[in-house]
Amino acid sequence: MTKETTPVRLSDYRAPDYAIDTVSLDFSLAPTATQVTAQLAMRPNTPGAPLVLDGDEVKLIAISINEEYIPSSAYEATPQQLTIKAPPREPFTLEIVTEINPKANTKLMGLYLSNGNYCTQCEAEGFRRITYFLDRPDVLAVYTTRIEASKAAAPVLLSNGNRIDGGDIPGTTRHFAVWHDPFPKPSYLFAAVAGDLGLVEDSFTTMSGREVALHIYCEHGKEARCAYAMDALKRSMRWDETAFGREYDLDIFMIVAVSDFNMGAMENKGLNVFNDKYVLADPDIATDADYAGIETVIAHEYFHNWTGDRITCRDWFQLCLKEGLTVFRDQEFSSDERSRGVKRIADVRTLLARQFPEDAGPLAHPVRPEVYSEINNFYTATVYDKGAEVIRMLKAILGEDGFRAGMDLYFERHDGQAVTIEDFLASFADATGKDLSQFKLWYSQAGTPEVTAEGRYDARRQTYSLSLKQSIPPTPGQQTKSPMHIPVRFGLVGPNGADLAFTSATGGGVEDDVIHLTEAAQTIVFEGVSAPPVPSLLRGFSAPVKIATGLSQTDQLFLLRTDADAFNRWRASQQIAIQTLIAETAAVRSGAQSKLDPAFVDALAEVAEDDSLEPAFRAQILQLPGEADIAREIGHDVDPAAIAGARKRLMAMVASRIGKRLAELAERTGNVGDYSPDAASAGRRALANAALALTVGQAAPEAIGRVVARFESADNMTDRLAALSILASNGFEERIAALETFQDRYRDDPLGLDKWLMLEAVVPLETTLDRVKALTTHPAFSLTNPNRIRALIGGFAGSNQTQFNRPDGAGYDFFADFVLDLDKRNPQTAARLLVSFRSWKALEAGRRALAEKALRRIAASDSLSSDTRDIVTRTLA
Ligand code: PHE
Ligand code: ZN
Repeated sequence: MTKETTPVRLSDYRAPDYAIDTVSLDFSLAPTATQVTAQLAMRPNTPGAPLVLDGDEVKLIAISINEEYIPSSAYEATPQQLTIKAPPREPFTLEIVTEINPKANTKLMGLYLSNGNYCTQCEAEGFRRITYFLDRPDVLAVYTTRIEASKAAAPVLLSNGNRIDGGDIPGTTRHFAVWHDPFPKPSYLFAAVAGDLGLVEDSFTTMSGREVALHIYCEHGKEARCAYAMDALKRSMRWDETAFGREYDLDIFMIVAVSDFNMGAMENKGLNVFNDKYVLADPDIATDADYAGIETVIAHEYFHNWTGDRITCRDWFQLCLKEGLTVFRDQEFSSDERSRGVKRIADVRTLLARQFPEDAGPLAHPVRPEVYSEINNFYTATVYDKGAEVIRMLKAILGEDGFRAGMDLYFERHDGQAVTIEDFLASFADATGKDLSQFKLWYSQAGTPEVTAEGRYDARRQTYSLSLKQSIPPTPGQQTKSPMHIPVRFGLVGPNGADLAFTSATGGGVEDDVIHLTEAAQTIVFEGVSAPPVPSLLRGFSAPVKIATGLSQTDQLFLLRTDADAFNRWRASQQIAIQTLIAETAAVRSGAQSKLDPAFVDALAEVAEDDSLEPAFRAQILQLPGEADIAREIGHDVDPAAIAGARKRLMAMVASRIGKRLAELAERTGNVGDYSPDAASAGRRALANAALALTVGQAAPEAIGRVVARFESADNMTDRLAALSILASNGFEERIAALETFQDRYRDDPLGLDKWLMLEAVVPLETTLDRVKALTTHPAFSLTNPNRIRALIGGFAGSNQTQFNRPDGAGYDFFADFVLDLDKRNPQTAARLLVSFRSWKALEAGRRALAEKALRRIAASDSLSSDTRDIVTRTLA
C-alpha cells in the first residue's frame, strides 16, 4: 500500500521539543541482523511534551531511560515512530536498542551493503532507518561511535571525526573502533563504513600549520585510480583557505568510494562517501569530462565542510542554503583551476539543459520550496543549479568585496548553527548596508523570468536608448509574480568590435557594466554614444533568465565574431543555431525544402580555425544544440522526429560545406601526445573531437572511416569514447563492431561498461528499444546498481529523444514498466528516473496522449513509494 504522506509546509516549522546534546552509538555489525545501541542525552525544550522519534523499518529491541527499562505502556513503537508518552522533565539519558538488516536494504538509505562493505547514507531522512531519532537537521549533537565487526570481513572501521580507540575483542574473531566527532552535527551528516577496503594516504598542512591526514578508501586493486581525486582534494583544501579563509578542522579527512550509491556523493562530517564514478580515474577508464567531474564533486563535498556541516540547514526547505552555495563554490573553484570562460559556458549548458525545463514544466518549484511531500525529490536542478545562480547574482550585485564581507559575517555569526535563508541574506545586508528584500524573490518565485530588450540609436543626439521588460510565467501554485532584481551585465559593441564608451546613463539602474533591472519595464538612455551599437546583454549569463534581444542574424554573427565577452560569443552562436533549427524543424514538419543559411556555417568554421582562441572555447562553439535543446526552445507542440530530421539536415550541410576543413582541424589538433588530464590538453582533444563529430553529416564512407580509425587508434578513454559516440549517436552500422570491441575491452570494469550501456541506449534507431530491453538481462546490467540503471535506462529516456518518444508510445510503456518495477526496490532512483517525463506537456498531441497514458498507469499502481507517488502526481497535475 502507498504510504500516506501529508505534505510538510515551511510555514508549519516549529523548533523541536527536545534537544539531543550527545549521541553515543554502538554498532554490532552483521549482514542481516545488525544491532544498534543509541544512547541519547536528551534535554527538554518543552518539558513534559511527548517525545516523538522518527523511525523507518527499524525493529525495537529494548528501551530504557536513565538506565532503567520502561514499561511498554509508557511508549508506543511502530517501525515508523517511537513515542514516549511522558518523559522526564529534566535532562535524561535515553537508550534505544534496534535491529536492522543491511543486506535487505535495497533503498540504499540508512545502513546497507555495497559489494559486501557496510556503508551508510543518511541525508535526508536515512538516520531513522538506523535508530529512532529526532531525524531533523536542527537537532545538533556531538557523536561518539563504536563499531564492532568481524575482523576478516571488515578490517576497516570508520565513522565521523577522529579515531580515539580500537582493538581486538579478546576471545573472538571480532574487533572494534571508536570515533569521536567534536563538532555538533545533525543526524543526516552521520556516517559509518566497515569493510575490506584499499587505502591511499596523503596529508595536508593547513594555513595555520596543522597536519591533516587524508585517506581515500576504495575497492582493493583500484588504489592507483584514486590519485587524481587525492590531488583534487588537496587543491580544494588550499582553495577554500585562499578564496574564503576556511580551514579544515579535524585531524583526518576521509573519502570512501562505493559502487552502489543513489547520488553523486555525500558530505558526512570528515567521512565523505562517494559514488565511485566520482573518485576513480585513469586515462583508460575516465574521459576528460570524468576528470573534471571528479574535481568538481571532490571540491563540492569538501566545501560542504563549512557550507553545510559547520553551518547547516534549519529544515529541509532551506536545502539551497547549503547546496546552491556549495555548487557556486565548486564552480568558482573549477573556474580558478581551469578556464573561467569555458567553465561558465559548460555550467550554463547544464543549467539550460536541466533547470530550464524543470522550471518550465509541471515540476517547477522555487529555489526554496514552501511545501513538499517527499524531500528526496527536492535535490533538483532548481535547488542546486539555480540556487548557485542566485548566489552568483548576489555577488554581481554586491561586488567582490561586499560578497566576501557578507560571507565572512555569515561564517562568524552562524558557525555551529542550523539556519535559514533569512539568516544568510541578513549577513549580506548587514555587512554591506544593502536592502535585499526584492532580491529575496529569487528564493520564492519559481519560473524562468523572460526579459525582452529593444534598442534605438539616435545618430543626431548620439544617444542609445535601451528598453528592458521582464515577466515571469505562471508556475504550479503561483499564478502572478512581482518583478525581480535582475542584474544584466552588458556592453555596447561598436562597429569595430570594441565596446563603446558612453558619457552617462539615465533612467536608472546602471552601475559600471551592470544594469539593475528591478521594474517590470525600464528604459535606459545612454548619452555620448558615438556610433550605433550592437548591445551585448547578459554577459557571462549574469542572471538565469531567458532573453529575447530581437537582434538580426547579422548582428548575432557580428557578436559571434567580435564580442569581448566569450560567453556571449558562444551564446550568439547557439542563438543562431537554435533559430535556424527551429525554422528547419517547421520546414521538415510541413514537408518543405531546406531553408538553411550557409553564412552561419561559414562563421562556425572561421571561429573553429581561429588559433588565437582557446581550443576548449572553440570546441564549445562547435557543439551544436542537441535535440533536447531545440525541443526546449520550441517549448510546445514538440515533434521529436521533426527536430531530429532538421538537425540531420543541418549536420549534412555542415559536413558538405566545411567537413573537409574540420577534418583537417581534427587531424592537426587531435594528436596531443601522452595523455594528461590538464585543462589545456583536454581542450585540444575536445576541439578535435567536436570537429570530427561535424564531419559525418553526409554519412560519407571516408568520414565514417576516419572516425573508426580514431576509435581504433585512441590511447585514452576520451578519444575512444568520442569516436564511438559519433558512430552510435548517428546510428552508423560501424557502431556494432566498435561497441562490441569496447564492451569486450571493459568486460571487468563496471564504470567502463556504464559508458557502453549508455551508448547502446542512445542509438537513434527503431531497433534500440528492443536492444535496451534485451540489455536489462545482460550480465553487465544490474537492477540493484543505480549507476547501471542511470546509464542504460536514464540514457534511453534522457538522451534518446526519438526512441524514448517513439510515436507508438512503446518507449514510454517500457519505461513505465521499468520504473514500476524499480520502485519496489529503490524508490529514490525510480522517482529520479521518472523525472524524464517532466516535459511531456510540451509534446505534440499524439505523443502527449501516449505519455499521459503511461503516467496514469504508473499513478494507478496502489503500491507506489512516496517518492514515485509524489513525482507522478505533480507531473500529471
Ligand atoms: N548532499 C549531497 C551533495 O550535494 C547530495 C546527496 C543528497 C547525497 C541526498 C545523498 C543523498 O553533495
Ligand atoms: Zn551538495
